[in-house]
Amino acid sequence: MLSPILLRLLGVVSLLIVAARDGLDQPRQTAGDGFTLRSWEESFALANATVAQLTLDEKIGLVTGVGQFSSRCVGNVSPVARLGIPGFCLNDGPAGVRPTKGVTGFPPGIAVASTFSRRLMRARGVALGEEFRGKGINMHLGPAMDLMRNPQAGRGWESFGPDPYLNGEAAFETVTGVQSVGVMACAKHFIANNQEHWRYGLIANVDDRTLHEMYYYPFLRSIEANVSAVMCAYNQFNGTSSCHNANLIGPKGLLRTDGFQGFIVSDWGATHDSASDNANAGLDMEQPGDYILIGGGTFAGVLGIGSLESDVGSGAVTLARMNQMVTNILTPWYRLGQDSGYPPVNFNAQESDGSGSLNLNVSVRSDNHTALAREIAGASAVLLKNKPGTLPLKAAAIKSVAIIGLDAIIPNLDCGDLNECDDGTMIIGWGSGSNSLDFTVPPITALNETFAGTGTVVTTSLSNDLTAGPAAAKGKQLAIVLVNAMSGELGFYQSVNGNEGDRNDMEIWFSGSTLVEDVAAVCANTIVVVHSVGPVHMPWTTNPNITAIIYAGAPGEQTGPGLVDVLFGAVNPSGRLPFSIADDESSYNTTIVTDPGFPLGFPVIDYTETLFLDYRYMDAHDITPRYEYGFGLSYTTFAYSGLSIAASGTSQVISFTVKNNGTVAGTEIPQLYLGYPPAAGEPPKVLRGFDEVPLAAGASQVVEMTVDQRGMSVWDTPSQSWVRPKGTFLVYVGASSRDIRLNGSF
Ligand SMILES: *[C@@H]1O[C@H](CO)[C@@H](O)[C@H](O)[C@H]1NC(C)=O
Ligand SMILES: *[C@@H]1O[C@H](CO)[C@@H](O)[C@H](O)[C@H]1NC(C)=O
Ligand SMILES: *[C@@H]1O[C@H](CO)[C@@H](O)[C@H](O)[C@H]1NC(C)=O
Ligand SMILES: *[C@@H]1O[C@H](CO)[C@@H](O)[C@H](O)[C@H]1NC(C)=O
Ligand SMILES: *[C@@H]1O[C@H](CO)[C@@H](O)[C@H](O)[C@H]1NC(C)=O
Ligand SMILES: *[C@@H]1O[C@H](CO)[C@@H](O)[C@H](O)[C@H]1NC(C)=O
Ligand SMILES: *[C@@H]1O[C@H](CO)[C@@H](O)[C@H](O)[C@H]1NC(C)=O
Ligand SMILES: *[C@@H]1O[C@H](CO)[C@@H](O)[C@H](O)[C@H]1NC(C)=O
Ligand SMILES: *[C@@H]1O[C@H](CO)[C@@H](O)[C@H](O)[C@H]1NC(C)=O
Repeated sequence: MLSPILLRLLGVVSLLIVAARDGLDQPRQTAGDGFTLRSWEESFALANATVAQLTLDEKIGLVTGVGQFSSRCVGNVSPVARLGIPGFCLNDGPAGVRPTKGVTGFPPGIAVASTFSRRLMRARGVALGEEFRGKGINMHLGPAMDLMRNPQAGRGWESFGPDPYLNGEAAFETVTGVQSVGVMACAKHFIANNQEHWRYGLIANVDDRTLHEMYYYPFLRSIEANVSAVMCAYNQFNGTSSCHNANLIGPKGLLRTDGFQGFIVSDWGATHDSASDNANAGLDMEQPGDYILIGGGTFAGVLGIGSLESDVGSGAVTLARMNQMVTNILTPWYRLGQDSGYPPVNFNAQESDGSGSLNLNVSVRSDNHTALAREIAGASAVLLKNKPGTLPLKAAAIKSVAIIGLDAIIPNLDCGDLNECDDGTMIIGWGSGSNSLDFTVPPITALNETFAGTGTVVTTSLSNDLTAGPAAAKGKQLAIVLVNAMSGELGFYQSVNGNEGDRNDMEIWFSGSTLVEDVAAVCANTIVVVHSVGPVHMPWTTNPNITAIIYAGAPGEQTGPGLVDVLFGAVNPSGRLPFSIADDESSYNTTIVTDPGFPLGFPVIDYTETLFLDYRYMDAHDITPRYEYGFGLSYTTFAYSGLSIAASGTSQVISFTVKNNGTVAGTEIPQLYLGYPPAAGEPPKVLRGFDEVPLAAGASQVVEMTVDQRGMSVWDTPSQSWVRPKGTFLVYVGASSRDIRLNGSF
């Protein structure tokens, strides 16, 4: 066992990857040949029949990664060429193919969460699937659906925020989209993988009800979307490693009980126990195959000690279990028709610069994908403040503008592994969930293009220099200040700006808040753009010289065009916060545990806050955040009326009218929150519905949301089932978790 201090310095996928560099001319390939979807039953039968033809070596080859330095993809297994089974290619990441070239840098999960648009969640899934398929990848290693338990959690931006319902909907739509083009999706990280510090072994203790209602819920929705695989996490759950935890991954564990029919794959090096421990608990495939210091290599044998082959030989793992492992892996592969006409792998993750004979330089980018990335960038931008008359801007009416901040410029695209830099505009966090930055269009480029030819005098200070920024702004009609904060995956690198994966605090980086305040002190028309992976402290929001604020989040490669669309009104903002923005961590009732505990080991983290994350906690404790969950302004206004609540079988159908009563077209995001009967012990309000309602000025629409029986239930531990509590439920319909426009009950 290595010392935890050493472990914490060691990365996993980070050892694999070299950051991608700028693209070259590459041939095009249209992604997504047709395929025939099979039923689970038929697929199982095909898999079962195939397993009967395999030798033991072939079976072991199909369940064991081939090694991180010999994988053409981030993960591979050995092929069985004589039966037409390829060496499955499993590849990062949840926001686009990496590390390679000719791919789109899609916005990450938190951005699509911020759109509150199932349409865009699904479309992003389809586009991701098309690019993975076009590269010949069998499995997309996403979506991530770990709740943002703490606002500073390093990988929080990879998934969909702190609310389980939004995570569940986004997971469902993403899985459905990816798999609709025949690519397998992988729900991760199972489970309670909610901070980076000590993640390789921390012990998360989550009570049964909290587990079901919060952390497990998005996985349940993934099963309902027919997800092909689930990735077990690095951490321990209830004292047993996730990949060795039969209560989670075994035949009688959570997933299989709920009908999961695909395979369980380990996170890279997340196997901390013996081959038989893991295989017998329910692990079907181990990645990356070799021992990588934090774990791994158990199926192949670590330092020649033990192996799956010897365990099958001795009977420690039965042949029946071995066959089941292979069947679980082949079943979703048959289901998605990958046995016929699937494109072969055409890139090489070992040569992320595109060099070498195995990189065939196939581009899977398309105008559609670029347009979608831009649409999500715009639709995820949250308008937090807009003094009347400020936004949208009219370029020709602006005589002078200062554009200020390091966050305006293109970042170093060659900053080492996994985008572990913040030296320009922030479009996505770092780590295996990041993506290739080849085609980033930074804000300065898009802004310059917009002002070109308008007669506007553009002055810039493209750093966070506290003297140059205000000097550039002084005397200008308008100042646009761009600032950011970033986080990522704990990796091989020590830290980024002193942050080891998780953010150290909620402050904007590089004196960003001081820059904002110093600029606003000299310019009475200061617009602030915040790029961040999660909530940040913005002490200056009430400053009267700050006339507009856009929380632009982590918008992906089309960051500049997406921002310009919103600033200049081509897109009327409809993004909503997928978390609350409070001033400090204590408002969220959780902490990142950085102390390993004594004696030196891995910390035990008890999820004592239970169901009370984010707005669920703040509502219960009368904490007023600066901006609440679900908040976001528009350039128009909406009126709500006519709430009606009707039972339909065991469901409740809630309908109401939304009217655009302003003067420009816009999209409203109505939200439905339920208040349970007090005895149920639920938070005051829980999200149970949302919709995207585009409306022309003056137009109105009836919106209908259905809450099914499970949506009105609590997880009842004694009966191990969803039970609807007796009593009256309150219905809240509104424009955010605190801007409730209609009230009712049933
Ligand atoms: C799987 O195949 C075996 C023979 O290899 C057979 O005995 C078994 O019934 C099959 N199971 C199913 C569910 O088809
Ligand atoms: C985890 O531990 C809690 C507390 O002992 C228990 O209620 C729960 O059933 C356990 N869950 C699993 C999946 O083992
Ligand atoms: C999942 O698969 C089942 C059985 O094939 C099917 O009825 C259902 O529609 C699928 N769900 C989705 C979301 O595709
Ligand atoms: C792909 O591009 C790289 C970088 O220019 C080059 O080294 C490599 O030979 C190209 N591969 C093919 C198959 O053209
Ligand atoms: C791609 O874009 C074109 C033109 O906008 C559209 O007609 C087509 O349906 C799109 N295809 C996909 C797969 O989205
Ligand atoms: C944008 O315009 C400003 C002012 O003309 C100039 O200083 C800056 O270099 C331009 N930046 C880019 C990326 O074009
Ligand atoms: C707002 O800006 C003006 C300069 O236009 C400055 O004189 C004033 O002090 C500023 N107000 C604040 C509150 O910073
Ligand atoms: C969470 O809230 C409870 C009740 O208000 C309090 O006792 C506890 O100390 C808080 N924990 C954290 C980590 O803030
Ligand atoms: C539109 O509706 C909102 C909410 O009911 C209301 O506050 C606002 O005054 C209305 N605006 C107009 C122009 O009627």
